[in-house]
Amino acid sequence: MTYNDKVVRQFTVATILWGIVGMLVGVLIAAQLWLPVLNFEIPWLTYGRLRPLHTNAVIFAFGGSALIGTSLHVVQRTCHVRLISDGLASFVFWGWQLIIVCAAITLPLGLTQAKEYAELEWWIDWMIVVVWVAYAVLFFGTIIKRRVSHIYVANWFYAAFIITIALLHIVNNVALPVSATKSYSMYTGAVDAMVQWWYGHNAVGFFLTAGFLGMMYYYVPKQAERPIYSYRLSIVHFWALIGIYMWAGPHHLHYTALPDWLQSLGMVFSLILLAPSWGGMINGIMTLNGAWHKLRDDPVLKFMIVALSFYGMSTFEGPMMSIRTVNALSHYTDWTIGHVHSGALGWVAMMTIGSLYCLIPRLGGQKTMYSVKAVETHFWISTIGVVLYIASMWIAGVMQGLMWRAFNDDGTLTYTFIETIAATKPYYAIRLLGGLLFFSGMLLMAWNTWKTMAGAPPLEEEAAEPATWGAEA
Ligand code: HEM
Ligand code: HEM
Repeated sequence: MTYNDKVVRQFTVATILWGIVGMLVGVLIAAQLWLPVLNFEIPWLTYGRLRPLHTNAVIFAFGGSALIGTSLHVVQRTCHVRLISDGLASFVFWGWQLIIVCAAITLPLGLTQAKEYAELEWWIDWMIVVVWVAYAVLFFGTIIKRRVSHIYVANWFYAAFIITIALLHIVNNVALPVSATKSYSMYTGAVDAMVQWWYGHNAVGFFLTAGFLGMMYYYVPKQAERPIYSYRLSIVHFWALIGIYMWAGPHHLHYTALPDWLQSLGMVFSLILLAPSWGGMINGIMTLNGAWHKLRDDPVLKFMIVALSFYGMSTFEGPMMSIRTVNALSHYTDWTIGHVHSGALGWVAMMTIGSLYCLIPRLGGQKTMYSVKAVETHFWISTIGVVLYIASMWIAGVMQGLMWRAFNDDGTLTYTFIETIAATKPYYAIRLLGGLLFFSGMLLMAWNTWKTMAGAPPLEEEAAEPATWGAEA
């Protein structure tokens, strides 16, 4: 028996491609915020249309392809068995790409359900349901067929991601279609807002966190050639994480019409969430315990460890921002955008990049990428890019919050709104520079991947046999 690596390779290439597209759109909207004249006269190139295109492209096209692709690699290697069906694997790949193309066409046209991260219209939502069910059958079917009794921890995280995203997607998108381009949500008012942010926050928790922790639990030990630091910690923080995330959504709705007690509940659960989040970070970073020297020469490990550090940082920042008095300052400001990208670029993108640099050569039976030097350069460009992005947004955000709430002695506002925008402009330029750096790193990655894949010896399918690393329990 051999593994199905074709689908993994397809998703890997798609991840890099969509990463480039999504981040290019990110760079464009960052430029538009800095220089509004770049909105041009064409409606589909305006900020309002391109922003959801950016978020959908980076989260679902880039992040989604990375998660599905790596999960299909990991599940085969840790269960020592081939995917249950090549046809289904192909269907999942092409189905997901079709959904992405539909999104890339409809969002610039302005067709949207107007729910953040759930903008796609009802018929695309149905396509997602079909492909997601196929993906679940493929993943869980392979787990059921496994040739080892143990289910490696990475698979639990991927499994939680698959099940929860199905639940979130269906509940939040229940809507009444009135035409091919328009539908109305089943929920109204504060209930609609609560369902939306239950979805939104758990999309962070299960798409942008649990799935990537699955990736971390396989590729970090693999690259470090060491077993995961603590198996016991992985069990504890897994159950705590999935149990607590579900209740934290109301922190997106502080000071709104949502009942007060719900806001407090969301805040308390967000504060508790710090503990299981840091459990994951500690387990990942401490896997290098006793082998820290590997960090010196291996840029792939650097990507992973810095990603885990950003994970720790953003999951410290998040609970702080969920405290209502802190949120009174941060909400509506660029501080939130800084927080988002310390998670999205620092954690999600850097963990993906590190994991793909670990995976790509192995797919071709090679030891390392074509150019390790290029990986090292990529690492530094991205790290500097993220730091410029988030530091500029932190400063801009706190400044905006403080300027908005400044009063004169006679009770009038000290600053007009436009003055706060003018004060933010230099920080938007710095964010643009950070984004450009991160984006250029992706181009370098595409070149290096091309060279690595082109230089791979003719594909011999790897036999499915028990591996011993990582599954130490
Ligand atoms: C080159 C890299 C990137 C650049 C330049 C960039 C730029 C931007 C900009 C300008 C915004 C709008 C901010 C605003 O509304 O004020 C934004 C929003 C957002 N971006 Fe990015 N981005 C990048 C990469 C990513 C990645 C890789 C992800 C996810 C994996 C991501 C996720 C998001 C999300 C979730 C939002 C919405 C935030 C919110 O509504 O609070 N971005 N991005
Ligand atoms: C313990 C973990 C975390 C907590 C408690 C938390 C908490 C928060 C809070 C309080 C906000 C601001 C809500 C507002 O004022 O509107 C926020 C926004 C956000 N966070 Fe986090 N965060 C955590 C981790 C993360 C991570 C790891 C990521 C990304 C990978 C992330 C992505 C986002 C996004 C995308 C938003 C913006 C949502 C929007 O308004 O569109 N968060 N988070």
